[in-house]
Amino acid sequence: MTKMLVTGGAGFIGANFVHYTLQNYPQYEVTVIDKLTYAGNPDNLASVLDKIEFVTGDISDRELIDKLVSETDIIVHFAAESHNDNSLSDPWPFVHSNLVGTASILEAVRKHNKRLHHVSTDEVYGDLELDDPAKFTPETPYKPSSPYSSTKAGSDLLVRAWVRSFGIHATISNCSNNYGPYQHIEKFIPRQITNILSGTKPKLYGTGENVRDWIHVDDHNNAVHYIIEKGRSGETYLIGADGEENNKYIIETILELMGKDKTDYEHVNDRPGHDLRYAIDATKLREELGWVPKYTNLREGLQATIDWYTANRSWWEAEKAKVEAAYAEKGQ
Ligand code: NAD
Ligand code: DAU
Repeated sequence: MTKMLVTGGAGFIGANFVHYTLQNYPQYEVTVIDKLTYAGNPDNLASVLDKIEFVTGDISDRELIDKLVSETDIIVHFAAESHNDNSLSDPWPFVHSNLVGTASILEAVRKHNKRLHHVSTDEVYGDLELDDPAKFTPETPYKPSSPYSSTKAGSDLLVRAWVRSFGIHATISNCSNNYGPYQHIEKFIPRQITNILSGTKPKLYGTGENVRDWIHVDDHNNAVHYIIEKGRSGETYLIGADGEENNKYIIETILELMGKDKTDYEHVNDRPGHDLRYAIDATKLREELGWVPKYTNLREGLQATIDWYTANRSWWEAEKAKVEAAYAEKGQ
């Protein structure tokens, strides 16, 4: 058995990763470390708690991280503050978790000579024009826009520096927008689905022309496994499934799939500094590692996600009023 430490395993992608790993890669013995911030929910792992070890803690706690890293073979690092809108209201938790937390993991990885996979975002590259023929590649210069994306960019640069200066064994992935079960209802797609389920209207920032490159969370996690198993140390792999759509299309499609009038949504205040478009060129991942996405029909993926939020009202209902009150204060 190979011992795997998953940071942020009670969050959206981390929890899906733990489920995916237990189902498809039985050679791993999984330990999760998670601070259980507002975004971490132990219920996400309820059905597998007897199969994993769960540690509640902060990745910037160097003593705890040193111990957990010393006891594992590989670290898959998801833990982060992840929501752009929150980073505009209060950047400090982003500096703490994304920068200090990642540095604490890197020092333990260096000391104990372990393998690290660092999970990051396409937002480190800034944004593209709507008609730009080029997509993000591993060679695109870093140009992050928000406190969230700049702290993620900083965490990537820390990993690169530890590879170059200390020779640690690490890989990095930068993925586009994920959707699927267990995503916090502050995020775009679950917010709109749960708005409709709660009898309120979907909320579109600005004109809705902003484009995101959607990928199902299982495809992201499958790609992370390809990189863990076959990726070359020190390399960066971009993960994306050619799922570009603008936000207006996504809201209209969700309304249509939920049997509502496609025009029944509200325009709300735009996000300051709102990135226009993200788009991933995943050629390196596809050609070098042989990865292909399984979820290529976004409408079907959205329908399955709608079904999950419809069937799991108790998972999100208690949080809904608080999340919407915070958005309402910003006119969003
Ligand atoms: P999330 O906010 O749903 O989950 C983050 C998890 O990390 C939570 O469980 C939280 O409790 C935990 N956490 C936060 N700070 C911590 C700390 N200091 N110590 C320990 N645990 C801490 O985020 P997500 O959407 O699942 O994103 C996971 C990772 O994937 C992040 O690194 C994010 O940057 C990256 N990513 C996300 C997307 C996306 O579309 N959501 C796309 C590309 C990359
Ligand atoms: O690209 C990867 C990134 O995708 C990840 O690194 C982030 O962790 C993840 O949160 C996501 O960032 P975005 O800012 O793109 O995601 P968000 O769900 O917040 O918003 C998606 C788009 O929808 C964005 O253009 C803003 C818009 N939006 C968002 C909300 C919450 C709306 O129009 N209405 C909304 O209510």
